[in-house]
Amino acid sequence: MTVEPRIGDVFGEMLRDAYAVATGVGPRPLAGGRLPRPVIEIIERDDGLINGAPAAHYLDPPADWQPYDHRAVDRVRGATLDVGVGAGRIALLLQERGVPVTGLDTSTGALAVCRRRGVRDLVHGTVDAHVADSRRYDTFLLLGNSVGLLEGRERAPALLAALAALARPGAQVIAQGTDPYGTRDPVHTGYHERNRRRGRFGGQLRLRLRYRELGTEWFDYLVCSPDELAELVRGSGWRLTDVDDRDAPYYLATLRLAG
Ligand SMILES: C[S@@+](CC[C@H](N)C(=O)[O-])C[C@H]1O[C@@H](n2cnc3c(N)ncnc32)[C@H](O)[C@@H]1O
Repeated sequence: MTVEPRIGDVFGEMLRDAYAVATGVGPRPLAGGRLPRPVIEIIERDDGLINGAPAAHYLDPPADWQPYDHRAVDRVRGATLDVGVGAGRIALLLQERGVPVTGLDTSTGALAVCRRRGVRDLVHGTVDAHVADSRRYDTFLLLGNSVGLLEGRERAPALLAALAALARPGAQVIAQGTDPYGTRDPVHTGYHERNRRRGRFGGQLRLRLRYRELGTEWFDYLVCSPDELAELVRGSGWRLTDVDDRDAPYYLATLRLAG
């Protein structure tokens, strides 16, 4: 008998264990009850492709970041919402710099790790739900490839509208993405082709995350080119004003509130 994974807070459990490994705070995951077990994020794609990557980088200090992360935080100004705050690596540096930063995440476990690491202002939930609160922001960060949260043509307008509703005049979004189309790997080019035939963006991934016995539901995650991002932003109330692709295929997109 095969059993589907139990739906749970995959990201939260994984970050809790990664934090325990990094700091010794909390029970460390052990293999055979003795040997430290590496904490690996497992990503399943709907064509059967499975990828694993160490989760430790979510806790990385600024010295270990990619150059584009530094350029992103250098562009921050005013009250800032870190969307998908994860383990709080970006929020912690902003706090240190005296920036009023709020970390938002759908994972209660991720927020617990943020709290333990000293992130002071945290919100549990989605951007859409946060609109009902009275908080408003000058900068929105979607880092760690979180352009992905736009999902595709169906979800993007609602997310961009929610960000606009949370925005102060002159607000900006700084979003990090990856252009997926430089690859020649047939596993990926075939997947992109299949997506396009179904009316989706080539890099509109259908994924679920796994950690130990837990899994997420299947969800869409958008890995798109800057041109595709421009298409999504058109008519949204935001303008794509800058694409910094100095570290291509990774890029930082800046959106500004139109008008
Ligand atoms: C890839 S991680 C990036 C973490 C962090 N931004 C970084 O750069 O280290 C994505 C984070 O977004 C959160 N997340 C996923 N879907 C979300 C949503 N719809 N709204 C808010 N957060 C979400 C996840 O729980 C996770 O903490």
